[in-house]
Amino acid sequence: MSQKYTVRLEPLGKILKVNKGTPLIDILSEYGVEFPCGGRGTCYNCKVRIIEGDIETEAQYKDILLKKGFDSSWRLACKSCIIQDVVLEIAQTDILILADNTVFSFKPGRGYGLAIDLGTTTIVMQMVNLSNGHVLDALSAINLQSRYGADIMSRISYAQEHSGLEMLCHMIRSQLWNMMSIMIKRHNIIPATILLVGNTLMHHLFSCIDVRSLAFYPFETHEGGKKQFRAKELGWDLPENTKIAFMPALGSFVGSDILAGILATGMDKSEDLMALIDLGTNGEIVVGNRDLMLTASTAAGPAFEGTHISQGMRAANGAISSVFLRNNEIAYHVIGNEIPRGICGSGIIDAVSVFLQTNQINEAGQISSGKSWISVTDTIKLTQKDIYEYILAKAAIASGIHILLNMLGKSDTDLKMVFIAGGFGNFITIDNAIITGLLEFPGEKILKAGNTALIGAKMLLFKTDDSEQNIVSKTRHISLESDTGFQDIFVSKMMLEKT
Ligand code: FES
Repeated sequence: MSQKYTVRLEPLGKILKVNKGTPLIDILSEYGVEFPCGGRGTCYNCKVRIIEGDIETEAQYKDILLKKGFDSSWRLACKSCIIQDVVLEIAQTDILILADNTVFSFKPGRGYGLAIDLGTTTIVMQMVNLSNGHVLDALSAINLQSRYGADIMSRISYAQEHSGLEMLCHMIRSQLWNMMSIMIKRHNIIPATILLVGNTLMHHLFSCIDVRSLAFYPFETHEGGKKQFRAKELGWDLPENTKIAFMPALGSFVGSDILAGILATGMDKSEDLMALIDLGTNGEIVVGNRDLMLTASTAAGPAFEGTHISQGMRAANGAISSVFLRNNEIAYHVIGNEIPRGICGSGIIDAVSVFLQTNQINEAGQISSGKSWISVTDTIKLTQKDIYEYILAKAAIASGIHILLNMLGKSDTDLKMVFIAGGFGNFITIDNAIITGLLEFPGEKILKAGNTALIGAKMLLFKTDDSEQNIVSKTRHISLESDTGFQDIFVSKMMLEKT
């Protein structure tokens, strides 16, 4: 029998018993340690500190951390394994997950339904009483697949390597079953219908569909339709007649989370022209009304999620989430009121806006002092490269909207309403998004719409018609890069605009 060792995780105080040789990546992701590069040893974001005992780490990775100025107690978790009893200090990433209590009109049904928003990073599920619309229970969690990479592309790479697809598929099905089992036991209620929404990659990974087509231009898939499942094939111990479906994607990386967002915002019924922008993982945009909706995705996500920013991180404890001026001095807020560990997307937008308003950068984003960075706090700074990353991301979103409006023969003044969807959008300061040219609309037209994916998924639980197919049939996916004017428009959006 393999020898067991004790691992104590601080500051959680959690004690685990694990086999000798267990890789830390196998045990730490469910305690909030992130593995953004999927364990390739390139991002250095999975650092843990040894308080007592020791762990085995490949020598080259010890050296890298020493060269970066960390003392010998620091290790990369993704390159380490258990060899004796050990006490480790871990940086927990307690990500903010946006649930929902929005009231909407519905035709009462019978029994209970489960709506699941399956995100690349987070999962939210809500059990809904279909006779009165009340949310009976809600659960959220970090998607355990995150240990194989924080962003879509590293998850796709992993799925293509060493039978990763089957493993990731099994992993997410098991995690969802474990979550819903908790609700089922708590209330002794079995949902009659389970609907999932998520981006196209999550659709494929849950359905166990080959993801190769999503790895290369034009990133299109022919397998993005609605998928229906029997509980047994998913390994879920539910009655045979339970209706389980993953809603259809709208094309390329625009998934059913956006389809649900269209339903939640009422764009598909609106006579007026509207836009929906989800600034999350992939920067998805929809522009249109009940007659026709155009949708596209952009490569904006990584900067907004902190991935391509030198001290960037997700909106989690320790992240600077807002930056502002107080008595002409830079002030900031840190999530969880902790010592700042990094800066998340909303903080980056605010910081760039403050730097612009205080003339520390010019409208092209160049740092005026001639230095290669500007401090936000004593320890957190934005580099010149970080500021350019933000400009690229905001230009991608702004050009996407511009192109979709152009294709409809409209301009931004024709838009009646612009909905900002998703967790990240919920935390941004709209004024600063406008000042820096991310959103080129008057503030009164912009509405933070919350977790529209979850709202829409709940609305779909009440639908007896094919509402989702109706939206699919009115939506056209556009590949922005194939638009002949894309480059010129993109370049024209690369200035920060001061109002
Ligand atoms: S270095 Fe990236 S996950 Fe460990």
